[in-house]
Amino acid sequence: MDLLTLKTWTPEEILATVEEGLEVKAHPRRYGEALKGQTLAMLFQKTSTRTRCAFEVGMTQLGGHAIYLDWRSTNFLLADLKDEAQVLSRYADGIMARMLKHEDLRQLAAGAEVPLINGCCDRYHPCQALGDLMTVWEIQGKLDGAHLVYVGIRNNVCNSLIAACTKVGVRITAVTPEVNGPSEDAELVAEARSTGLFEETLDLNGAIRDADFLYTDTWVDMEFFLDPEQEAEKERRVQVFTPYQINAKVLRRTRALVMHCLPAHKGYEVTAEVMASPRCVAVDQAENRLHVQKAVLMRLLGNE
Ligand code: CP
Ligand code: NVA
Repeated sequence: MDLLTLKTWTPEEILATVEEGLEVKAHPRRYGEALKGQTLAMLFQKTSTRTRCAFEVGMTQLGGHAIYLDWRSTNFLLADLKDEAQVLSRYADGIMARMLKHEDLRQLAAGAEVPLINGCCDRYHPCQALGDLMTVWEIQGKLDGAHLVYVGIRNNVCNSLIAACTKVGVRITAVTPEVNGPSEDAELVAEARSTGLFEETLDLNGAIRDADFLYTDTWVDMEFFLDPEQEAEKERRVQVFTPYQINAKVLRRTRALVMHCLPAHKGYEVTAEVMASPRCVAVDQAENRLHVQKAVLMRLLGNE
């Protein structure tokens, strides 16, 4: 079993994983040997703090081990993706990869003989969405009936939230004036619409009126953020999305808690004041990545 996108996971699989994340958080010591002697290979084409650390610490806490592979220092640079993934499978019990392109993740999956986990590509960020559902569950005491409003650009994080929420009874409203090019996914949107749990609007004030959670993410993905060639596009996005910034004025119009996958770009999609406010649960979301990813690892690599 792989975790490339939550689109292919059943509601039962998602719910059981999130519930297991809560259980692991409550009783971490019970799982100290769950993956004893097992190894996770972690391949990164992009930067990371949370994903890398949560997986590495998670493997240690489960009695296993993780290897960090920076793309640029491996022969993935030179070789056929499928071949390298197959070889990696002969050493490791699972592979987690943060790839620039979803299509390359699929190539890895075609070669891998062990479970493959998507650590965030241009289209999806499934581990983030699982941690976010866990955070919603923790706060609300349930998932069913919660209302999450996503504001900003429709990207990898938003896509995975749409897939996750609509499968487990969470209402999700997208206030997303634009889709980040590679994240366009008509199939996902059609499926989400058919559940009746997904709405799209540009009326931010209307959307947040009965929101429980107000979620935002960067307007520019990490691989472009420091790229001087993207300056003009970054400036264009600032013009388009600034009216959708989550700031104190927006917060006064809703009782919703603020969510952010991090890293946050203060002064852009969210203000420093909002990030520092007691209504922001971003650090709890980040912590829950550890617990829910341990649940993912046990589900995919565990022997039961
Ligand atoms: N939210 C998230 O995936 O963070 P990193 O990019 O630091 O892993
Ligand atoms: N949309 C962001 C998510 C970071 C976790 C990016 O791809 O950079």
